Amino acid sequence: MASYNLFLLPGDGIGPEVMTEVENILAWFSAQGIARFEIDRGLVGGCAYDAHGKAISEEHMARAMTADAVLFGAVGGPQWDKVPYDARPEAGLLRLRKDLGLFANLRPALCYPALADASSLKREVVEGLDILIVRELTGGVYFGEPKTITDLGNGQKRAIDTQVYDTYEIDRIARVAFDLARTRRKKVSSAEKRNVMKSGVLWHEVVTRIHQESYADVQLEHVLADNCAMQLVRWPKQFDVIVTDNLFGDVLSDVAAMLTGSLGMLPSASLGAPDGKTGRRKALYEPVHGSAPDIAGTGAANPIAMIASFGMALRYSFDLGDWADRIDQAIAIVLAKGVRTRDIAGDRPANASTTQMGAAILEELRAFA
Ligand code: IPM
Ligand code: MG
Repeated sequence: MASYNLFLLPGDGIGPEVMTEVENILAWFSAQGIARFEIDRGLVGGCAYDAHGKAISEEHMARAMTADAVLFGAVGGPQWDKVPYDARPEAGLLRLRKDLGLFANLRPALCYPALADASSLKREVVEGLDILIVRELTGGVYFGEPKTITDLGNGQKRAIDTQVYDTYEIDRIARVAFDLARTRRKKVSSAEKRNVMKSGVLWHEVVTRIHQESYADVQLEHVLADNCAMQLVRWPKQFDVIVTDNLFGDVLSDVAAMLTGSLGMLPSASLGAPDGKTGRRKALYEPVHGSAPDIAGTGAANPIAMIASFGMALRYSFDLGDWADRIDQAIAIVLAKGVRTRDIAGDRPANASTTQMGAAILEELRAFA
């Protein structure tokens, strides 16, 4: 039986609650002999700051570096609003992305049929939606230097963030998008703002060249990022794979999330480059939603995005694509049966807590065994 080392970083807010549901599924996988998971747990975000004064300690960083995959919950909360900028909860997540070299962030947005009415858009606009946002995750304005606030001495301050992309960064994320499009409907929409940004001009140039050189069988369209946002709410089914930079990807993936009914539904995978020798990639899996401090501890959180993120780990890190499919099917069945946490209940009251939703999904998985 294959054995994998998983590093769990539940984080803050609802992170630990939704992670517990994945841990139940993990225990079942091990008991079934599907794979053996060696599980190690660490701290990230506000809880890490409280424990070590940093958003992630060096020791936990080192463990993340050696794990076969990291499962990440969520970070942040109002009690850490005043901590130093470098130690803010999000810094832990950004450090993990950067130091693990997780440049490719895959954010699939799937509208399960049973949830088409939970979306704020009309049923016909979102029903059957299946798009994939491929977000560049280790470059751009998130990490560009200089990144400063300077006192100009005249009562004014100046804030600078730097948007920077090198050719190789655009090249490798474009290839990820084209390769994935080949397994889907063979269309890539590349979103940037070349009408105002030099990084957009280079992005457009590199994506066009990669397409011509290596992916002529895939359809490529270029779309300005603002127009892309508008098209996502107008007629999202025109898209298959959207490839875009770090900041636009952050914004566009939140828009895409709401198309599916709730931010509580969207999983993500963050992948590094395949290792030259082993072919393995470093990887971190996390829900797109945040720590939702307002509902933490109430049992209202939807664990589906976290469970589906674990499903992505099965697919991309553990070569268990069949079981990844079964997780997606189990989620679809549970939703079709009408099980609803508050975020996806629409006008009706919720009929499931975090734990009940997790248990219902596990129950469907058992039926596949
Ligand atoms: C996301 C989040 C993060 C980001 C935050 C928590 C730093 O919004 O993963 O989309 O901006 O990338
Ligand atoms: Mg975001």
